[in-house]
Amino acid sequence: MATEHEVETTGLLGWIDRRFPLTSTWKKHVSEYYAPKNFNFWYFFGSLALLVLVNQIVTGIFLTMNYKPDATLAFASVEYIMRDVPWGWLIRYMHSTGASMFFVVVYLHMFRGLLYGSYRKPRELVWVFGCAIFLCLMAEAFFGYLLPWGQMSFWGAQVIVNLFSAIPFIGPDLSLWIRGDYVVSDVTLNRFFAFHVIAIPLVLIGLVVAHLVALHEVGSNNPDGIEIKAKKDAKGIPLDGIPFHPYYSVHDFLGVCVFLMIFAAIIFLAPEMGGYFLEANNFIPANPLQTPPEIAPVWYFTAFYAMLRATTDPFKIVLMIVIALLGVLALVRGRGKWRLGLPVLAVLVILAMYFTQSKFWGVVVMGGAVVSLFFLPWLDRSPVKSIRYRPLFHKVFYGIFVLIFLTLGFLGTRPVSPAATLIAQICAIIYFAFFLGMPFWTRLGKFKQPPERVQFKPH
Ligand code: HEM
Repeated sequence: MATEHEVETTGLLGWIDRRFPLTSTWKKHVSEYYAPKNFNFWYFFGSLALLVLVNQIVTGIFLTMNYKPDATLAFASVEYIMRDVPWGWLIRYMHSTGASMFFVVVYLHMFRGLLYGSYRKPRELVWVFGCAIFLCLMAEAFFGYLLPWGQMSFWGAQVIVNLFSAIPFIGPDLSLWIRGDYVVSDVTLNRFFAFHVIAIPLVLIGLVVAHLVALHEVGSNNPDGIEIKAKKDAKGIPLDGIPFHPYYSVHDFLGVCVFLMIFAAIIFLAPEMGGYFLEANNFIPANPLQTPPEIAPVWYFTAFYAMLRATTDPFKIVLMIVIALLGVLALVRGRGKWRLGLPVLAVLVILAMYFTQSKFWGVVVMGGAVVSLFFLPWLDRSPVKSIRYRPLFHKVFYGIFVLIFLTLGFLGTRPVSPAATLIAQICAIIYFAFFLGMPFWTRLGKFKQPPERVQFKPH
């Protein structure tokens, strides 16, 4: 049967190809995958995320060979890896630095999606799989952080698992079920180990495969946000497409080299990164009887953590007022089923908020901040995809969004204070306004006409 990617191989490869789609898969996904010729800096991060994923898996396997998932032995086994296992220190620093670099790379990768509207039709599923990957990464990092059994591991897990107890009705039982004990204990360590080394990585790898299959089904977006498949030559090859291999394999290799230089510099010169990648408190063995003065998560969670802490009782009242106003707006301006549905929903949410503690709503706000990302493809109604052809005020909005996300991230690393809480509350409102307002503001302003063909200057 003729396929789109013709295969005529002989010898051993031919023997395999007649039994397994090796050459045709290589052609479909690599040597005959036509990617837009105008990829820029922002397109390095997908392949870098793959690199870091492989690094985490390989170094993780070697760590597991010497690590002991036992509350009485875990801390000492990590010290043993650092001091006695040949090259153990390197493997461990590659893994701990890799965890932070994973988030650096993935945040930049997601930001690229935002810049060029890569989540828009027909790439909605690429984005949704990406968001699921992000959730999995967060779970993976959270479970992994308990394993060294340091003070921050223990107390961080204690705080986060306790949050579940704020869920009405099922909360206390749920947090007990997650921990497997009344406090974080050996039982918790064992199950977190199982999730960290096998359950989540399996799901993560499956999602990454789905992410790439979905991307290759529709083709890559590009900095101009126009579809290269709209203009093809007689053979059906996009006029502005170039084969991924060798063009982008070489391009990505450059990114890999630069990344590895930075990665190595951190590992060899500053593996703790001033306490941001490895916290001082985590070099103290877990002590269930002594709470550390400040419990803060690792930097990649702090923006979300700041929103959780910002949800105080007064803030809950502000949120109730905002929801009431949105309900009134829907009643006055809404159309069809939304006109009644949304105000009814608003009343129900306000009632629920009135009868439940603000801690629970902190969890909802924190979770909502991540879940909002999933809806981006349907919230953004701009007539063009790429930021290049959008009005200036869209660029300003994106700038503000990045700024408030960084501010929240910074505030999450600081001790609580009235001023910090107020700033975090304002930032949280702007964060959600950015997403909820998208169906409206993304349509406004004067858009530039995107070009017919991608803009590319050889370099
Ligand atoms: C383990 C984590 C991830 C890996 C290994 C990964 C891998 C990749 C790769 C190799 C590409 C193609 C190259 C490129 O366009 O840069 C890609 C594209 C893409 N990824 Fe990811 N990704 C990950 C996480 C995410 C996340 C968290 C999101 C968003 C929430 C996301 C959204 C996208 C989008 C929208 C594209 C298409 C971009 C375009 O065509 O312009 N990815 N990803």
